[in-house]
Amino acid sequence: MKKTIIALDGHSSCGKSTTAKQVAKKLGYAFIDTGAMYRAVSLYFHENHITLTNPKEVEKALSEVHITFHFNEHRGASDVYLNGLNVEEEIRKMYISQMVSEVSAITVVRKAMVAQQQKMAKHRGVVMDGRDIGTKVFPDAEVKVFMTADPTIRAGRRQQELLSKGEMVDLDVIIENLKKRDIIDSTREEGPLSQANDAVLMDTSFMTIDEQVDFVIQLHDSVL
Ligand code: C5P
Repeated sequence: MKKTIIALDGHSSCGKSTTAKQVAKKLGYAFIDTGAMYRAVSLYFHENHITLTNPKEVEKALSEVHITFHFNEHRGASDVYLNGLNVEEEIRKMYISQMVSEVSAITVVRKAMVAQQQKMAKHRGVVMDGRDIGTKVFPDAEVKVFMTADPTIRAGRRQQELLSKGEMVDLDVIIENLKKRDIIDSTREEGPLSQANDAVLMDTSFMTIDEQVDFVIQLHDSVL
């Protein structure tokens, strides 16, 4: 069977990663969570007190960042590693969400991550979720879906996700964070969040994860 690239882009907390993970499993494809890469860079910058407005400091720090993914049998998905350390749990915390959009708006950071993502999916058979996959990383992806959902519903889902990991955050704080990230992500110069002309819109506000997965699989099957 022909292998493709499935690009799932969209707003924060629309169910992109959960959908991507399950689609990949069903198709026997690899799943690459590009948000995890920007989060890992953010963690490194945070730990090393990098001044984001200092290009020299940023470039030096970036050259010290090595990101890899390793399959976690227990989770049934890959965990992200930063310089050999599993940081999957740490990067999901709220303090990283509060800085990641600023970090991912830095052009050199984006260039480095995009180059790495393009290398990772060289052999196709990949589901990649992010913000610029269908527009910048793989403009030739065979399947492109742009995901969105009602902001309050997205915030509620995010709150549940954080809670399941033991972090209690007020809904208002989450709504503010999602709004801020969407604005920074869609207005940055390099690789802004936008729907590719040939992407299909999927509003997940009232969809179950199974419905989202079926939607993507049907689209995938239709292009083969
Ligand atoms: O997908 P997730 O919400 O984990 O992504 C975290 C942040 O990483 C996004 O808000 C965005 O700023 C950045 N990101 C990006 N480009 C991608 C994936 C994520 O700029 N391809």
